[in-house]
Amino acid sequence: FNAPSPANEPVKEYRPGSPEREAVKAALADFWAIETEIPMYIGGKEVRTDHKLRVAPPHDHQHTLGYFYEGDAQHVEQAIEAALSAKEAWAKLSWEHRASIFLKAADLIAGPYRARINAATMLGQSKNAYQAEIDSACELIDFLRFNVHYATEIYQQQPNSSPGVWNRLEYRPLEGFIFALTPFNFTAIAGNLPTSAALMGNTVVWKPAYSQVLSAKVIMDVLNEAGLPAGVINLIFVDGPIAGEIIFNHADFAGIHFTGSTGVFQQIWGTIGANIHKYKSYPRIVGETGGKDFVLVHESANADEVATGLVRGAFEYQGQKCSAASRAYVPSTLWPEVEAKIKLYLGEIKMGGTEDFTNFINAVIDERAFKKITAYIDEAKKSDQVTIIAGGNYDGSKGYFIEPTVLKVDNPAYRTMCEEIFGPVLSVYVYEPSDFDKIIETVNTTSPYALTGSIFAKDRYIIDHVTSKLQNAAGNFYINDKPTGAVVGQQPFGGARASGTNDKAGSALNLYRWVSARTIKETF
Ligand code: SER
Repeated sequence: FNAPSPANEPVKEYRPGSPEREAVKAALADFWAIETEIPMYIGGKEVRTDHKLRVAPPHDHQHTLGYFYEGDAQHVEQAIEAALSAKEAWAKLSWEHRASIFLKAADLIAGPYRARINAATMLGQSKNAYQAEIDSACELIDFLRFNVHYATEIYQQQPNSSPGVWNRLEYRPLEGFIFALTPFNFTAIAGNLPTSAALMGNTVVWKPAYSQVLSAKVIMDVLNEAGLPAGVINLIFVDGPIAGEIIFNHADFAGIHFTGSTGVFQQIWGTIGANIHKYKSYPRIVGETGGKDFVLVHESANADEVATGLVRGAFEYQGQKCSAASRAYVPSTLWPEVEAKIKLYLGEIKMGGTEDFTNFINAVIDERAFKKITAYIDEAKKSDQVTIIAGGNYDGSKGYFIEPTVLKVDNPAYRTMCEEIFGPVLSVYVYEPSDFDKIIETVNTTSPYALTGSIFAKDRYIIDHVTSKLQNAAGNFYINDKPTGAVVGQQPFGGARASGTNDKAGSALNLYRWVSARTIKETF
């Protein structure tokens, strides 16, 4: 078990004229010029159907980037069959050989595929180059390398033995197949959910969001080049309810690795519960879902750090991160300076397409998201409980663009303080410093979620007090930093309450869920 020790992949800066910027520009131009064909991959074969769906860049939705082939019930069945047939050989393959494939995949993304995976994320998911570099290339490389490292630690954990008795734990994969259901917003998460389960010896049916298919294809290309055997990960594009009907009724369904909305996850959990007598084993249910992530500011905080944290935390990737700062509580003593700085920074950032590297804000993912987010903004404009501090305008005619919008609300229970919007909307409640303890309680109780949150304060007693009072309000808690941007190997990521099962992606805690250990006792 001497796998290479992992280190975080250095993040490239994409400065003008740099080789990495030129490489991404060339990859962007390729994707723009060629209509990419995106087949499903079942049992190692490319699968095309009569049902072609168009892939469009969110920032220019009339342009066609390519087509993907949508499947139906028979493709779900074929993918399950392929996963089950590949299972025995894959599970028997020695650990080093499984690990080597994923380490090679990490190296391919770090090298020859880096520009392609970033360009696919930039165009397909409207993410700027810096966000793509962090959230697709580097984070996926880190997931692949660190998971190999954590798996070696798991396999080495063995029980005690004594003379005449040898006890061992055999970390077997789960019996059956795993279903990975992945989101659009992080290419790295889309890549991690199927590969982490596969690393532990499982075989997988992977269904990505339809808005992430371009970068999903690049991930499949990488895995194929890295030598992943046929059938270990099967990529399907099938309507959710059709796929669910077959998968959640299958006796060999062994677990789901999910990132997506709370509503869908709860529905899936209910279906699995209702079908529980149909399965050979209790399926593992691992999910990261929604968030309504807070930034609590104490009067001892530094206003500039707060403003920077809010602008970056709320608006990077248009606020489409489950970890995005979306509700802030600022003391009246600091608010004038924080407000001025937020306006200053927002005045300096630009909005537009991802090919222009100077744009900080790009489009939101699709028309549905655009309508949902702008409905919140329209309602806020009409409300007498809200003042628009910044932004508030939008234009979906060419791309789904929404200005970074800051709402100052008079009521800490106003809708936008409680509900997940998943877009570039930050709500701020300004409180009197003497109400600080009441506000801590408000932070804890106004939302059902518990994903991420931050406290900004310099007073160490306050930091200690808030950290303890809000111990269940966030699975990832940040002191004097924005609540986004967890780094694999440094801040294991996940939340509790309505935010998920808190199985910390990119850590041993997550990988344990993909094994079903057998205890073996041998006497001599
Ligand atoms: N891991 C991401 C972050 O921390 C969210 O999924 O922002």
